[in-house]
Order: sequence, then C-alpha cells, then structure tokens
Amino acid sequence: MRAFIAIDFSDETKREIIKIQNDIKQHALSGRWKRKDNFHLTLKFLGEITPGMADKIVSLMNNVAIGHRQFDLKFDKIGFFKGKDNFRVVWLGMQNHNEALYNLQADVEETSGMLGFKNEKRFSPHITLGQDVRLDIPFEELESTVKIDIKPLIVDAFCLMDSRVINGKRVYTPVKQFELLGR
Ligand code: 2AM
Repeated sequence: MRAFIAIDFSDETKREIIKIQNDIKQHALSGRWKRKDNFHLTLKFLGEITPGMADKIVSLMNNVAIGHRQFDLKFDKIGFFKGKDNFRVVWLGMQNHNEALYNLQADVEETSGMLGFKNEKRFSPHITLGQDVRLDIPFEELESTVKIDIKPLIVDAFCLMDSRVINGKRVYTPVKQFELLGR
C-alpha cells in the first residue's frame, strides 16, 4: 500500500478548514484543491510499503505513541511553498513553534529511519489546502483577507494512513490509530 503517517482531524475541524479553503478559492484563478475528507498533517511520508513492513511500522509506532502526551494545536496562519510560476502548495499552519508536535515528529522520523526510510531534511508542519494555485491578488493581501477561525484542538493520536485512488478520486484512510498515552 501507499502509506504515510499523519495527524487526522475531526469532521468539525475539517469543516472549519474548508471555510478557509473556500475563502482562498474566491481569489484563485486556478488550482487543485484538497477534498475536505483528505485534510491532514503529515508527520512522515513512507511511500509504497509491503504488508510485512506495515506490521513493523505499527509495532514501532505503538511504542512511539506510548512515549508522548496529548497536546494542543492551533492553526492560525496560511502560507505557501513556491513553485516555478505559481504557489506549488497553499497551506494552513501555525505561527508559533509547537514543541510537542516537533518532538513527536522527530520520534516518528527517527523510528522510520530505523526501518530504512530516508530522513527528511526539515519538518515544515502544514495542512495542504491547494496545489498549483494562481491568485488574482498578492499573497500578503490574501493573508489579510482570509479569516482564520479554527478552534484550538487537542491531538490525542496519530495514524498510519493508506492512500489510494478510488473511482478516480484520491482517498486517504486511517488504517491504524496510535493513541498518545504518555503522562
Ligand atoms: P503534503 O503533506 O504536503 O500534503 C500523502 O501523499 C501525503 O504525504 C501528502 O499529504 C503529501 O504532501 C505527503 N508527502 C510528503 N512527501 C511526499 C512525497 N515525496 N510524495 C508524495 N507525498 C508526499
């Protein structure tokens, strides 16, 4: 399966996120937009893995989860990764550094590395809203126009996600949830 490890969100949070995406769309000339059900925060992209590898990941990630407490997350900023002549990714993220999130991601990254997955250079936590986006206003103007109104959320788990195309649509499905059980 094609897999990644991510923080999944409640339907309520996804509904709040779609409002922000809709506001951005008002100023978009073009773009590919993530569907509401697919909003997530990636901790580690794994790629194609065998069922045997999935079992190993599940077993090690259970251990990771035991070592981390639940934590708060507040999404309060939109931003972008630049493409050649567009915004390659327009995302929702955080203004402030979130120590607990970075610690969890570092642990997931290191543990994946033990199974042979290549380490990422840098973690840039974000929720992808759209890809290959072109706007009719400068991004700074978009930032001051879009109202970000997302209730702070408590992250109490992360997931192994399966990514596949069903009836022509990319569908992300949590196949295993790891509860943060640290105290
Ligand atoms: P994203 O986090 O910027 O949206 C599943 O494909 C998820 O893993 C996507 O959310 C995707 O990007 C993320 N991802 C990270 N590295 C990837 C890669 N090399 N190929 C595909 N997806 C990747």
